[in-house]
Amino acid sequence: MKLTVASVVALIAGSAIAAPAQVQKRACSSAVRLSGTENAFLNRKLHANSFYREEVNKAADAMSDSSLAAKARKVGDIGTFLWIDTISKIEITRPLIQDVPCEEIVGLVIYDLPGRDCAAKASNGELPVGAINRYKSEYIDPIKKMLQALPNTAFALVIEPDSLPNLVTNIDLTSCQQSKSGYEEGVAYALKELNLPNVVMYIDAGHGGWLGWNDNVKPGAEGLAKVYKAAGSPSQVRGIATNVAGWNAWSKTPGEFENSPDGQWNKAHDEKRYVELFGAALKTAGMPNHAIVDTGRNGVQGLREEWGHWCNVNGAGFGIRPSTDTGSTLTDAFVWVKPGGESDGTSDTSANRYDSFCGHSDAFKPSPEAGQWHQAYFEMLVKNANPAL
Ligand code: GLC
Repeated sequence: MKLTVASVVALIAGSAIAAPAQVQKRACSSAVRLSGTENAFLNRKLHANSFYREEVNKAADAMSDSSLAAKARKVGDIGTFLWIDTISKIEITRPLIQDVPCEEIVGLVIYDLPGRDCAAKASNGELPVGAINRYKSEYIDPIKKMLQALPNTAFALVIEPDSLPNLVTNIDLTSCQQSKSGYEEGVAYALKELNLPNVVMYIDAGHGGWLGWNDNVKPGAEGLAKVYKAAGSPSQVRGIATNVAGWNAWSKTPGEFENSPDGQWNKAHDEKRYVELFGAALKTAGMPNHAIVDTGRNGVQGLREEWGHWCNVNGAGFGIRPSTDTGSTLTDAFVWVKPGGESDGTSDTSANRYDSFCGHSDAFKPSPEAGQWHQAYFEMLVKNANPAL
């Protein structure tokens, strides 16, 4: 066929009409280069992974109220971190992180230290105290290979929730004393080995109601900085993750527990103040101090009897959506780290991992094992979402 100018124009116009309404987003065509000196979330949306999307869609399918189900389905499109909480979850993760669009960043939680969750029972993990070599060779090393094989994809990692904070405030417990060397060695190893060009890392720093107490800020920051330095001050560490699986408001004055009798001993009554306060201490201690804050389940306040209550808080709602619009120079992004709808711990008092916090009167009951899907809880989070879904 001889192409005249007119027929070329017609062809282009025709193909424009025939093109699908939504342009297929593509993976990056060259290697991604991130660094601890930059906010990797700027111009990159937190990836909505299909593991969580499937949990959410199944949950929506099971709802009889169709308007609630429609709201629920929207949750699957909201960027949420994926937890690599066992060695076997690595292979489940691999297919989920292929072909991620160039304008997105995948959030992964590294969570399998030996003697995990030393101050509680609900999230005790598969590796016993002392299994540091297995942590390195069967967990971190394969994750490293997996991320290295995807140089064109951007990753943000939250490193080992609760571990280093527990060493600051719960070191009176034998279990945390036993876990200490494995936590420090394990986190340092993770930071060193996962220090890849396409990765940024945020070390878990608890929340304002934990390391925000006057007496905890300095030892907390020094505890994190010690491990960061032991890892050789890796270039891809950007700072800290706060409020992971937590309930604190981003910004609220007075804070939920500010006027409680002990409130005077803490200057971090919301996560915004915590990031500033702890960030300053990190700087002094010689560690990068930018933050990401989990706003996944903090939509409703005033539910807890005590600040330290952490298990399936009753009445909770989904919170602020992932965004870099934080209004805080130290805060890179609001993110959803805990996948809302996955339980914090079982309320079955006869279970091995039953923790009394999951039996408090402000905890939702009945609740399944940590990490298991919790349909009733998810429905509540959808109903109480703030902003609404
Ligand atoms: C809890 C569970 C863990 C799960 C995570 C996210 O910490 O122990 O298995 O992956 O929550 O729901």
